[in-house]
Amino acid sequence: MPDPNTSYRVLRSQGAPSVRSLADYRKAGGYAALTKALHDLSPEQVIQQVSEAKLRGLGGAGRLAGEKWRIVRRTESDQKYVICNAYDADSRAFAARSLLASNPHQVIEGLLLAAFAVGATEAYIVTRSFYQDGIESIQSALQEALNANLVGRDIQETTFSCNINIMGMDMGFMGGEETVQIALIKGRRGMPEQRPPFPAQYGLWDKPTAINNVETLANVPLIVKDGPAAFTKLGTATTGGTKIVTVYGLNEDEPRVVEIPFGTPLRAILQQAGLKLDENAIRALVVGGAEGGALPPSLLDTPYDFDPVEEVGAIIGSSIIELLPRDTCMVSWAMKRSQYLSKESCGKCVPCRLGVKRISGILEGIVSDLGVNGDLDVLDEFAAYVPNGSLCGFGVQATNPLKTAKRYWPDHFTSHIQDQQCPTGTCAPVRAHRFVTKHVLP
Ligand SMILES: Cc1cc2nc3c(=O)[nH]c(=O)nc-3n(C[C@H](O)[C@H](O)[C@H](O)COP(=O)(O)O)c2cc1C
Repeated sequence: MPDPNTSYRVLRSQGAPSVRSLADYRKAGGYAALTKALHDLSPEQVIQQVSEAKLRGLGGAGRLAGEKWRIVRRTESDQKYVICNAYDADSRAFAARSLLASNPHQVIEGLLLAAFAVGATEAYIVTRSFYQDGIESIQSALQEALNANLVGRDIQETTFSCNINIMGMDMGFMGGEETVQIALIKGRRGMPEQRPPFPAQYGLWDKPTAINNVETLANVPLIVKDGPAAFTKLGTATTGGTKIVTVYGLNEDEPRVVEIPFGTPLRAILQQAGLKLDENAIRALVVGGAEGGALPPSLLDTPYDFDPVEEVGAIIGSSIIELLPRDTCMVSWAMKRSQYLSKESCGKCVPCRLGVKRISGILEGIVSDLGVNGDLDVLDEFAAYVPNGSLCGFGVQATNPLKTAKRYWPDHFTSHIQDQQCPTGTCAPVRAHRFVTKHVLP
């Protein structure tokens, strides 16, 4: 099991003195990385260090941060932007909220380093408007940083200037998607855009924009301060550093937030979160949040990193891991997830808008014991059609619940379809409801 003392590098408040105020953050070595970059490093050297640290986008997609920044840096423009995505699209995710509330100066320092590296002079922090604790904390840190000439004009008496704006907004799940955020900052309707061109070349107000997740940015001061070699002491061959993970135990609504090195087995993450694992009591672990995949307990030793998790059908996504109790019917679980995702789809792409709805409908039929064998083939067709025909990551990942439920629990589907029986005896109320509506509707 990883040693929490060494792996809490971003969520520093856990088990360590508070670093919320500028004085405390400075005492803990804060803003040393910014001073080093502004006085001793070129923007290209900062980008090189971030690349060598194998820092990947922690907002879910895992794209190398250094590669994105290099594109923004190299794109000629009179104005460039950085956006810090601190939105937590998944309503049960807590990474952004925890970071803003507990370690706001590390977010600001990371954002400034990103702006220095790519050549931006204007930055935005976008978060949920109802994150009162997070917004208050980042606002007060920003005021302190402004007073100390760490933000604004001629920072630390250099030629580097950068303004930071804080924006609270709420647009459900889709509000976390990068092109939606760009549209919302511009005051437009939030809908995802076709890529390419990517925001790195053609972003906010059509200018090169580095949009990064808040946790990605909060890792940058660590890389610049101690060097990429120190950073990659934790992590895997392909992903440097740590990840904040939100864990929900069996039937728990209260999240447990931990920070673990990439590559930590799922089992060890749950243990670090303080869960006592009884594998016989668990049906599945859902890895990745609302669009995550469900995995059987036999996969508890899967290392938590982008590739291994995707190989088994799940995603890093919003970095939530939750446990489902043994009596969960996985057809019903996939149905509820699909119903939720169908409501959250923005509707711009027809495959996502209608496909996820159709999947929910077919699953409702199967749960109600009205399914037929052909349903399984139709579900497979939709599971391929929706991701292929969607503009943004929402549609690409929306069929993970269905796909993993079918992959690991095919018997739950056949039990419902062929024996008209719920394998766990928990689907009866849905069937009763369905039975009534079927006869009431003309
Ligand atoms: C539906 C949807 C929701 C998303 N929500 C978030 C979010 O809450 N926070 C986030 O950082 N990225 C989110 N993303 C990913 C962003 O579009 C983008 O890839 C990310 O902010 C880039 O930062 P990174 O490279 O540091 O991960 C979401 C993507 C999709 C498709």
